[in-house]
Formats: sequence, C-alpha cells, structure tokens
Amino acid sequence: MLEMRRELAADVSKRSRIPRMTRMPAALQHLALPVIAAPMFIVSTPRLVIAQCTSGIVGSLPALNGRTSEQLDEWLGEINDALAAWDRAYPERRSAPYAVNLIVHRSNARLERDIEVCVRRGVKICITSLGAQAAVNDALHAAGVFVFHDVINRRFALKALEKGADGLVAVAVGAGGHAGTKSPFALMQELRAEFDGPIALSGAIATGDAVFAARALGADFAYVGSAFIATEEAAASDAYKAAVVAASSDDILYTNCFTGVHGNYLLPSIRAAGRIPTTCPRPAPGSRWNSVARSRRRGRTSGAAGRALLPCKPS
Ligand SMILES: Cc1cc2nc3c(=O)[nH]c(=O)nc-3n(C[C@H](O)[C@H](O)[C@H](O)COP(=O)(O)O)c2cc1C
Repeated sequence: MLEMRRELAADVSKRSRIPRMTRMPAALQHLALPVIAAPMFIVSTPRLVIAQCTSGIVGSLPALNGRTSEQLDEWLGEINDALAAWDRAYPERRSAPYAVNLIVHRSNARLERDIEVCVRRGVKICITSLGAQAAVNDALHAAGVFVFHDVINRRFALKALEKGADGLVAVAVGAGGHAGTKSPFALMQELRAEFDGPIALSGAIATGDAVFAARALGADFAYVGSAFIATEEAAASDAYKAAVVAASSDDILYTNCFTGVHGNYLLPSIRAAGRIPTTCPRPAPGSRWNSVARSRRRGRTSGAAGRALLPCKPS
C-alpha cells in the first residue's frame, strides 16, 4: 500500500512538470490554449476553422467536407488568406495553424488528390483516420507535414506509430462521432507507456477544467469536437444546434447501426429523422464510407455528438 502511494506521488509530481514538448513541431508550441479543434464531417467549415485559429487554437476540417478536391483547394486558399490577413493585423496575437483530416481508408478515391492539395497549400498538420498508411505518411513527411493518427486503443496506436505517425489522437469513451470505449485514464496510461511524442486526448472535453484534466493525464492537447457544433460558424442546421444545446449526456446513443462503426449519436436528432435503430444489419465492408457519401449527397448532418453537452447550454 505504502509502495503504491509512493508510485502515485511520483506520477503526480512527474505530470505536474507539463508542458511536454518532445518532438513537438514549432507550429504547435505557441497556442493560446493547448486545444486542437476536432474535424467534424459537414459541420466544420472554413469560417469555423478561421475562428478557431484566430482564437489561438488549432482549427481543423475533414478534407471530404469540400464536395470536390477543387472545392477543398479553394477553401484552403480562403483559410490561408484570412489567417495571413489576421497575422498582418495582429502580429502580437498570431493565428494558430490548422489541420486537415484525411480519411486514409481504401474506399476514399480522392485521397491522392486531396494530399496534393494539402501539400500545395502548405498545410502543416494532417490528422489521418481509419487505418494508418506508411505511403501516406511518407508523402506528407516529404512536404514537412506533421501527421496525427486517431486511435481508440493501444493496438491501433502501435500500428499507427509503426507506419510513421508523428503524433496520436487518443479517442476515449464519450467522443462524438465514431468513438472508442476506453476510459481516458486507461487509454492515456497505456499510450504514454509506449510513446512520449505528441498526444491529443478526446472524448467529452469541453471546459477549461477538462482541458486541464487532459493535460494532467499526460496529453499535450485536448481535442474538442461536439462543443463547436452549436456555434454560429458551424454548418449544422438550427434544429441540430438546438438539440445539442437542449441535450444531456443521457441523450447520447452509442451504436454501430448507422455506419457499421460504433459512434455516439444524439437521440433527439435520430428520433426527428425517424431513424431509431431496432435491429442492426451486419454492415458490408466499406459501408461506413458509402454511408458518408450518401449523407453528403443528401446534404445531411449526421446527428453525431459526444457526451460533452453541458457546456453547450446557455448559462
Ligand atoms: C458531428 C461530428 C462529425 C465528426 N466527423 C469526423 C470526421 O469526419 N473525421 C474524423 O476523424 N472525426 C470526426 N468526428 C470525431 C471528432 O473529430 C472527435 O474525435 C470528437 O468530436 C471528439 O469528441 P467530442 O465530440 O466529445 O469533443 C466527428 C464528430 C462529430 C461530433
């Protein structure tokens, strides 16, 4: 017992020596807050990214939010111009960098073109999801891009590092959209035992206290998604924003019924769409991305949200 107390005390004193800056790229060392805004399908817009970056946190958007690679190209140009103008106007409060989320699953036919666009537009950070690929990391590294890969457990983290990821996004229980089931305590402990490079922790983080807690667990950054859904700049319908503001964590359903991959969804949105799952058919391979493509054609937001809903309520 005494020994265990000593170990705990040593851990606490070690953790209080944050910040941890091992292998941290310069672009990530001067943020106003240690926060990376998480990419959200349909919801993240260039306007939201600009607002995030000019507030001093890393903004992000999924490459696939642009309907085509050409639209992504235009958007990145727009973001670059806006951030350059901000930096000229406020040299003492320069903007934070932004990240582009790339789905590296084989069913993403746009991947190569989107990488070219990111490289040409001077993107400094990419967040890859769904199966790390060495070739993708090599192409991004050759252009000086820092690559985070998102993982839900130790096994996927080790695979991602083996394929060359520079940093990890640890997706813990309660995260919006496709999410893991691990407690952030267990996940961070296991990842830190293997890796001392940059880690962003996600899952129901939306307050300063939670950002502080993420850092205390050994993460370099908090990775925050759902808390940005009900913002003016987000591309969510008014009904979706209202549902986020009105909901509590009891209104979140964790299911694989919609895309074949387990994720957290907002029950009121599912009810409103008449999509309450009863039995879940076994998904066909690649069905997640077929379903993403269908949602895009219908211009629909997913109704995804994590358990970080309390801060969305008006005070
Ligand atoms: C509406 C919505 C859409 C999302 N779309 C994506 C996506 O396209 N790509 C991705 O890597 N993660 C996506 N995510 C997951 C987020 O990037 C992030 O992991 C999650 O929001 C963090 O948890 P939080 O919502 O509790 O803050 C999405 C999350 C939400 C809520």
